[in-house]
Amino acid sequence: MTENKIVTYKCPSNIALVKYWGKKTGGVQLPANPSISWSLSDLHATTTVTRIEKVESKALENQISLEFYLGGESKTSFEPKIKQFLERIAPMMPQVYLYHWKIESQNNFPHGTGIASSAAGFGALALCFADFQRDSLEQEQNWSDEEFLKIASKYARLGSGSACRSVYGKPGIWGETKAWIESSDEFAVPFTANVHPTLANWADAVLIVDDGEKSVSSTQGHDLLKNHPYASSRYQQAENNMVRLLEIMQMGNLSEFISLVESEALQLHAMMMSSEPYYLLIRPNTVAIIEKIWNKRKENQWPMAFTLDAGANVHLLYDKSYSLQVMNFIETELLVHCKNNLYLCSDLGAAPQKL
Ligand code: PMV
Repeated sequence: MTENKIVTYKCPSNIALVKYWGKKTGGVQLPANPSISWSLSDLHATTTVTRIEKVESKALENQISLEFYLGGESKTSFEPKIKQFLERIAPMMPQVYLYHWKIESQNNFPHGTGIASSAAGFGALALCFADFQRDSLEQEQNWSDEEFLKIASKYARLGSGSACRSVYGKPGIWGETKAWIESSDEFAVPFTANVHPTLANWADAVLIVDDGEKSVSSTQGHDLLKNHPYASSRYQQAENNMVRLLEIMQMGNLSEFISLVESEALQLHAMMMSSEPYYLLIRPNTVAIIEKIWNKRKENQWPMAFTLDAGANVHLLYDKSYSLQVMNFIETELLVHCKNNLYLCSDLGAAPQKL
């Protein structure tokens, strides 16, 4: 009987600047267009995976065996999704069948805030499994740190597409694009160019507008792009925006950065509104917040921009040298539009950590 092994990783969530929306046909979770995100340093999942020897009678069965806990509570409803993730990584890591896996995860942000926890959760889980695999390699097969992160990113993608961008401390680029030579559909890669000081010190305040279950999930949303009348122009637009954004991030052109990021957010929701069937995830308070951000910026020229995920919450991205002004703006003008007066602040750009 060998000893159980335990691995723990903390992994941040992320917020996309150019949005992944739509999957390629064929393959598993390959993006129809490239995307780039910043990690949300202070909104993360911490996941511990314990590898337990299977009892001998079960060891030869090709069955995934796992138990899952979220915030200390057993969550059997999450197990099918994790089982599917393990089945997807099994061709590259056959040892997933050999053990029983106890997976304990917790998010440091409140549950039910409408913040996508899957990017942080699958990021952390993928890092744990890639770590087990690295540990079992013969010395001559050993991976470099770069290879390790690529494999973790590929595994994360198989759990939840956008999660693959969370494994780097640098902005994560995912999806083939002529904007970045190393880019791939299979895994994310880090944006290693120097970000201009104008854009290198930003943070995110997530204004919680709606904490309920979304009427249309991201999985359903991606699917609706298959027969979407504007899909191909959207994919082209995302590619053009990637090329432009990577230049902007290096040149530090603030007004172009703001327009591109806000336009991306609205395009994402425009695709939802023009799907068949159409749907709407933004709420009146989403629009009220956006308009106040626009007015405030017009008055004061503060370096800030909003973006949106597939939900009603508004991410207010801002230059941290304006923290005092932005916090005061949130507290005095935006909080009235937030559910239970809730907003969550995060720095940007932290890498995951092995604990
Ligand atoms: O990773 P998924 O399948 O939950 O897709 C999420 C996509 C967006 O969050 C809307 C955009 C993005 O690129 O993160």
